[in-house]
Amino acid sequence: MTRIIFQTTGGERYEIDAANGTTAMENAVRNDVPGIDADCGGACACATCHVYVDEAWRAALPAPSEMEEDMLDFAYDVRAGSRLSCQIRVSEALDGLVLGVPERQG
Ligand code: FES
Repeated sequence: MTRIIFQTTGGERYEIDAANGTTAMENAVRNDVPGIDADCGGACACATCHVYVDEAWRAALPAPSEMEEDMLDFAYDVRAGSRLSCQIRVSEALDGLVLGVPERQG
């Protein structure tokens, strides 16, 4: 299990014990984290699972695929650290990962 943390713009903090091999998005949905819509179910085809990776964690993640980068063009308020949470695969190396949830999706 790996602990990942979602923070909402309203200041709520969701600390989740995530199974390795699952995606950050799957854990957000399973734990009712508000603001992660994930309309396409993880197919990298909707950009409604957009998150902001905390600066301290950006280097720990593999670079986004071309497909993810293309989909991020459709996300709301893209910033440095923007990623699609369905493309973040949980592993022990990400224990303590902090992800911000945007004000809204789409
Ligand atoms: Fe659709 Fe991530 S759930 S792109």
